[in-house]
Amino acid sequence: MPVSTSDFKPGLEGVVAVETEIAEPDREGGALRYRGVDIEELVGRVRYEQVWGLLVDERLEPGMPDPEPYEPPGLTGAAPADAQAEIARLSGVWGLRKLTEISDEEARDDLARLSAQVMAIVARSARVADGAEEPVPDEVVAAGASAAEKFLLRWRGVADPRHVTAIDTYWICTAEHGLNASTFTARIAASTGADAGAALSSAIGTLSGPLHGGAPAHVIPMIDEVAAMGDPERYVVELLDKGERIMGFGHRVYRAEDPRARLLRRTAEELGSPRVETAKALERAALSELSRRHPERVLATNVEYWAAVVLDVAEIPAALTPAMFACARVAGWSAHILEQKRVGRLIRPSARYVGPGPRPLASLA
Ligand code: COA
Repeated sequence: MPVSTSDFKPGLEGVVAVETEIAEPDREGGALRYRGVDIEELVGRVRYEQVWGLLVDERLEPGMPDPEPYEPPGLTGAAPADAQAEIARLSGVWGLRKLTEISDEEARDDLARLSAQVMAIVARSARVADGAEEPVPDEVVAAGASAAEKFLLRWRGVADPRHVTAIDTYWICTAEHGLNASTFTARIAASTGADAGAALSSAIGTLSGPLHGGAPAHVIPMIDEVAAMGDPERYVVELLDKGERIMGFGHRVYRAEDPRARLLRRTAEELGSPRVETAKALERAALSELSRRHPERVLATNVEYWAAVVLDVAEIPAALTPAMFACARVAGWSAHILEQKRVGRLIRPSARYVGPGPRPLASLA
């Protein structure tokens, strides 16, 4: 079938590239449902590892397993680079077979082992970044009652219950969100028949930029500047006048408030974040100035604004926030990799060539 070049959309906005039974946010932003279940119902009732089960297996149990013993050899303390490298390496260490060579059940089990390992590697990498040389003893980590608690124990050796709730809630809210950049990347890799480790590490690689998963790192410094300055309205006007974007606002899909932002704002309030009042004042100022400057478009609060405040409750350093997002999204990525495996069709879109016409090599001289 000939490709219509008039259909070209930079950024592929609105282009339907796959059909999915996992989740897709509705534009009006009313709700986000995983396999039909509203995330409002999940938070506080089930743990992240069960949400992994819901997304991947369509049932809560057995969910994501505990990570098996593995000593990552080359941690640098820079996550998610450590997670990307180590997950790619595990394909070789564990001898993972290609998605085209194994059953759906075997692929699911590979993804479960790898997902659990992403959490362990990020925790270990964060510990290296803190300057701790020795890993926390296994029996200390094993005492944790949830993936979030074990994550904190593996990182710091202790787990404050408020920190556990903050991380578990953040992970649940960001476990899956349809065909965003990292998930699309995971599906593209899976469509070639790559092994599960290659597909997951490809997805992790897309998280280093500030436009997908990286915004929380910029939000807390912004809130602190506003607190120091004491004038959120002036802060917003000056930032926008410089041509900069306000991190944590706007969304490619939602044309209303992101439901995850609503849930995480509530969590930040419930957990008593000391930054809530300044964050709310900055949010009000940003929303009002963005709607004044862009009356043609809804620019509302997105997930990453309030995610930053919730992660701050758990004392997550800004540099670690993309890796925290990677931990959360292993569920969505795994579900999509399996779905793509079942589709079994190579993803290969077209490009419209707009470069120079035919010319001789000599013309370059
Ligand atoms: N601050 C200021 N202006 C913003 C803005 C923001 N956060 N988000 C969008 N805009 C403006 C753009 O400058 C653009 O204005 P212009 O047409 O005058 O140039 C207009 O709104 C449309 O933006 P566009 O880049 O087309 O939107 P998009 O759908 O491609 O982008 C995001 C979506 C998320 C990448 C974008 O809103 C953004 O960069 N937000 C900040 C980063 C962020 O929070 N990322 C986390 C996303 S969950």
